[in-house]
Amino acid sequence: MSKVTVVGAGNVGATCADVLAYREIAEEIVLVDIKEGVAEGKALDIFQKAPINQYDSRTTGSTNDYTKTANSDVVVITSGLPRKPGMTRDDLIETNAGIVKSVTENVIKHSPNAIIIVVSNPLDVMTYQAHITAGTSRNKVIGMAGILDTARYRAFLAEELNVSPKEIQAILMGGHGDTMVPLPRYTTVAGIPVTELVAKDKLDAIIERTKFGGGELVKLMGTSAWYAPGSAAAQMVEAILKNQRRVFPVCIKLEGEYGIDDCYLGVPVILGKNGVEKVLELDLNAEEKALLETSRGHVKEVMEVLNKLGK
Ligand code: NAI
Ligand code: 2OP
Repeated sequence: MSKVTVVGAGNVGATCADVLAYREIAEEIVLVDIKEGVAEGKALDIFQKAPINQYDSRTTGSTNDYTKTANSDVVVITSGLPRKPGMTRDDLIETNAGIVKSVTENVIKHSPNAIIIVVSNPLDVMTYQAHITAGTSRNKVIGMAGILDTARYRAFLAEELNVSPKEIQAILMGGHGDTMVPLPRYTTVAGIPVTELVAKDKLDAIIERTKFGGGELVKLMGTSAWYAPGSAAAQMVEAILKNQRRVFPVCIKLEGEYGIDDCYLGVPVILGKNGVEKVLELDLNAEEKALLETSRGHVKEVMEVLNKLGK
């Protein structure tokens, strides 16, 4: 019996729970929120969709009662403030760090073996917060951002080439922010290097748009995105529960890989039943290394802000 808890029944959390249910990724899904009745209501709404959309997954909700989350295999943490226009992801640090810390304490108390997927922003540093609070191994406390950022990049490329988004394979590294590192050298269209199909100026423009892809949506909607983020988190849950060993960019504490130690960054990994089964080390060229170093420096600065706040 697979059980998944999603903490935060807001836009991203509820979307993630919905995808987990209608795609029957987990048998039991528990939504938790601090706002009275919201998680219960959304879980009930998703369950009432089951006869229409034909699925067997059960969704239930809880207002801050973590006994209902006991023995979850995977926990997705989406609780926290979203970005508003004019805010960076880093602006959310103080409030969201407190939320992620208390949520992780509750999660680990009732599901000590759970694999935790962090979604709350600033993503890389909230993964750091959850990891030190959980006290479990690094492969079990990971962050979702790379699948989303790569999906934006892939969608823009599919639009540019007028091909199915399914044909675009890509990888992207670094922190979830404007310093993320798209890698055109590792981007293909059904195996064809993207650089053979898209002119350099067009590709550069797509990379720029990807870097600011989150902000583009905040500007349009007045809050941050949820359909793609919720689906991306659900895709990570699926890879873990089904032991798919899929290759995704995932945020994890680096311990020497890419010459980086003690920093939480997005890197390509194999995702399976133990969470991150392996970090894949690419042979980056000088330009890519320099971009990754800039991203590392930025995430490290925000990690220091968290350290000063007292974690
Ligand atoms: P939202 O405001 O719609 O939902 C957040 C929910 O968390 C609210 O329902 C709120 O009541 C709940 N919450 C707050 N404190 C809580 C606590 N202590 N325990 C349980 N629930 C609590 O926000 P949205 O749009 O769902 O975004 C959630 C987070 O995900 C934000 O920090 C946002 O920046 C981040 N995000 C990250 C992405 C990524 O790629 N990693 C992508 C999109 C959003
Ligand atoms: C996003 O990239 C704001 O992190 C959020 O949509």
